[in-house]
Amino acid sequence: MVKKELSGGRKGKIWKESETVIRPSNDWTRTVHRFLSYLRERGVDFVPKPLSFDSDNEVLSFMPGDVFHSPYPKDLFSIESLKSASRLLRQFHDFGKGFISQISRDDKWMLEPKKGFEVICHGDFAPYNVCVNDWHATGIIDFDTIHPGPRLWDISYAIYRWVPLTSPLNPDTFFELDKQIHRAGVFFDVYGASAGLREKLVPMLVERLEALISYMTTNAPQSETNFGDDIANGHIKVYQNDIEYLLKHQSKIANGLINS
Ligand SMILES: Nc1ncnc2c1ncn2[C@@H]1O[C@H](COP(=O)(O)OP(=O)(O)O)[C@@H](O)[C@H]1O
Ligand SMILES: [Mg+2]
Repeated sequence: MVKKELSGGRKGKIWKESETVIRPSNDWTRTVHRFLSYLRERGVDFVPKPLSFDSDNEVLSFMPGDVFHSPYPKDLFSIESLKSASRLLRQFHDFGKGFISQISRDDKWMLEPKKGFEVICHGDFAPYNVCVNDWHATGIIDFDTIHPGPRLWDISYAIYRWVPLTSPLNPDTFFELDKQIHRAGVFFDVYGASAGLREKLVPMLVERLEALISYMTTNAPQSETNFGDDIANGHIKVYQNDIEYLLKHQSKIANGLINS
């Protein structure tokens, strides 16, 4: 069988063989597979089928579509793409929320569960972990970061990546602040989020980015994930600039979202 390396993730680690994907397994892979099976048993076809795992690797079904990585094409940030991403995240949360009652002490998570469990958060719902067909988000991949938490914990990070709600210093930034606020409002609308959530976007996102920085600094050296590369590439500085930008414009963003 021919094995072909898939690009965009960790180098030399993610492979396609026939219609399957082979990627490194971790302590939390058993929990991830339990969760993916839970979704698939409920008819969810926008996540891969978990096929097997051992101490080295996991095997999942290959999801059709393109997965884009920075620098992103402009078409990925059309309003229609944005809406499709929000719709997909909502479905992911709604189908997965029943899994909360099936969590046990034996479950392991790469990222610490966040208090106020409402759903299973993807933890990294960004274009680089989403399959796109005709510029619509249709599939989700890379579940290493799943963990229980509030909806907004995941929505805020998705908005960060899909709006993108980032500082002009971030190379992934596409739009000015007013347009960013409008796009964040569209994401909330399509998700069907309550007004209360909009107000809390910036504080929650700042907390989320701070947790990410702290995870990266604490775990990166021994990490099996690509956080080590992130540090080497100066990504922490990018997150810090984004936090500064979000705090500077916090009230404008909150007011804009409430009145949109
Ligand atoms: N189940 C899958 N179906 C289709 N493509 C996949 C799947 N899993 C990974 N890929 C491809 O491999 C690339 C890297 O995978 P990913 O799991 O995101 O790696 P990493 O954990 O290093 O971020 C993705 O950008 C995507 O193109
Ligand atoms: Mg990935």
